[in-house]
Amino acid sequence: MVHAPSRREMIRQFAAFLLASPLMAEIEKPDLKDSTKLANVFDFRELARRLIDPVAFDYMDEGGKDEISLAENRLAFRRLILRPRFLTDVHQIDVSTDLLGRKLDSPVYICPAGGKNCFRLAGEEETARGAALANAMYISNGGVEEYLASSEAPAHWWRYTTGGQFHTPDAMLDFVERLEDSSCTGICFTVDSMLVSHRERSIHNGLVRSWCNLGSIPRDEDGELVSNPNDRPWVTGEYPGRLFPTPTWETVKQLRDITELKIMLKGLMTAEDVEMAVQVGADTVVVSNHGARQLDHTGSTIEALPECVRAAAGRIPVLVDGGFRRGTDILKALAIGATAVGIARPYLWGLACYGRDGVARVLELLKTELALDMGMSGVARMSDIKPSLVRWRNWSYEGGLQR
Ligand SMILES: Cc1cc2nc3c(=O)[nH]c(=O)nc-3n(C[C@H](O)[C@H](O)[C@H](O)COP(=O)(O)O)c2cc1C
Repeated sequence: MVHAPSRREMIRQFAAFLLASPLMAEIEKPDLKDSTKLANVFDFRELARRLIDPVAFDYMDEGGKDEISLAENRLAFRRLILRPRFLTDVHQIDVSTDLLGRKLDSPVYICPAGGKNCFRLAGEEETARGAALANAMYISNGGVEEYLASSEAPAHWWRYTTGGQFHTPDAMLDFVERLEDSSCTGICFTVDSMLVSHRERSIHNGLVRSWCNLGSIPRDEDGELVSNPNDRPWVTGEYPGRLFPTPTWETVKQLRDITELKIMLKGLMTAEDVEMAVQVGADTVVVSNHGARQLDHTGSTIEALPECVRAAAGRIPVLVDGGFRRGTDILKALAIGATAVGIARPYLWGLACYGRDGVARVLELLKTELALDMGMSGVARMSDIKPSLVRWRNWSYEGGLQR
């Protein structure tokens, strides 16, 4: 009987082949602006897939459990079609917008993403520098305070937390005071990752999450993963729980009471939670399913967006992220009423391939796609984008998968 290698074995063999191969040094990296090779963000994905360790790539690429929401974050854009209008003047197109009283050159911003060192050394700082190059809004996972205090930092940045700093009033105050002394716009509080989800590609790969803090996936000269006795690989079958109570709406109220920094709640998917966010004094919300990496079967974020925009009713701006890869995706979200659109994997592809310049180039590609798609839809300014620009249609998900 022919032995069929397991996925893990295949990855190991592939990694060993790459490490041993003289081709490794020769994977061609085109000039960053070579549009024949890097015409869109998917081309960056393909290059990143070839360049980085497969275990790191899986960690970046994967979703939770069966990856149903991961697929739907992309597929749902096909349910929404554009209704272009013509014979309007589109000789100059302006994609700048306003968020909470601050001008953004583009509505596309950098989402928080942990584990960036798996894809590029000093990944957080490279990302921040890429955002600054593109003059884009940046949400920081932290650890780059020195750079963010410098004059080169992005003008508009937020500090992300899952509430680890909110266990005690003192810890919360300390966190807030340090941010108040910085140039930070506000706090991005991610509410959807209180528990460790099943990311089953990483579980099968035996990923030790702390590898991504260190710098790279450790392998020996045969391409075998190197682990040490203290490593804790990602596993299933452990009953979920945390040592401390997880944050609640009351926690957000306490945060609101002690700071005037802006508060962004990231990870909401329902009208009910948007209403709660308004009630507790959040300044903005992000409709997000964490890139489909937490709870599966949430549906896509573009489908959740209309009810969330309706619930916000203009009282707070609504942002969205999850599966945005094209100017048309962004345009559709803006038409539904989003103020800005976040990306993670696309800039991580740019980061993995070219560091800060790759991050900036991906942002630039999406910004220029958006401008072109606006122009071709007959809208020259963000304020011209109306709900009538889109229409939902009946559509089944049996259309194949495009990440
Ligand atoms: C590798 C990776 C790590 C992430 N880490 C975080 C995180 O630490 N905190 C968070 O709020 N969201 C995190 N996210 C989710 C993103 O902020 C964002 O919500 C989502 O990925 C956007 O979808 P996209 O990747 O399809 O563009 C992560 C996403 C990826 C791909």
